[in-house]
Amino acid sequence: MSEMIVETPDEVVSFLKAQHDLIEDMFDEVLHASDPQAREKPFIELRQLLAVHETAEEMVVHPRLRREADDGDAIVEALLHEEHEAKALLSNIENLDVTSQEFITELAKLRDAVLAHAEHEELEEFPKLQKEVNTDDLKRMAAAVKAAEAIAPTRPHPGVESAKLNLAVGPFASMLDRARDLIKQAIG
Ligand SMILES: [Fe+2]
Ligand SMILES: [Fe+2]
Repeated sequence: MSEMIVETPDEVVSFLKAQHDLIEDMFDEVLHASDPQAREKPFIELRQLLAVHETAEEMVVHPRLRREADDGDAIVEALLHEEHEAKALLSNIENLDVTSQEFITELAKLRDAVLAHAEHEELEEFPKLQKEVNTDDLKRMAAAVKAAEAIAPTRPHPGVESAKLNLAVGPFASMLDRARDLIKQAIG
């Protein structure tokens, strides 16, 4: 039986944009789950992906923009502020009952905030990186970003999904710590 192969971009900007698309899909999956109980599993996966994605941007991508662009500091400060707000929203949401209406209301707010943030990155940060950073470095950055994927849901790989899920279940804050450790190891 042939497995569907999804080409993983080997350059950091396309890789992160693909993750933005996946994040959007995963929000929809939670918000439109068939019944309230069915929100739990995709919500855990969404938290994993957000932990991996935002930590990688904070450790690998934003520092590089600070170095490369004259207005890098200002752009990064604004992005970090948005990431901080999203984390605060998420920490609140993970204490809510997934079957409640409040959960859906708050998750919809988080979705809007995260997607607006992703758009800011795609408009203000990524084009500058692609302009200022050479292809080899963009690929090296992708490798560091991918290091954190060990705790992220991998799709489509139904076989390994449940094992990884069990390992990574925990509060969002501990997912952030684990993503940070993996990236730290990768960048040395
Ligand atoms: Fe971000
Ligand atoms: Fe992002």
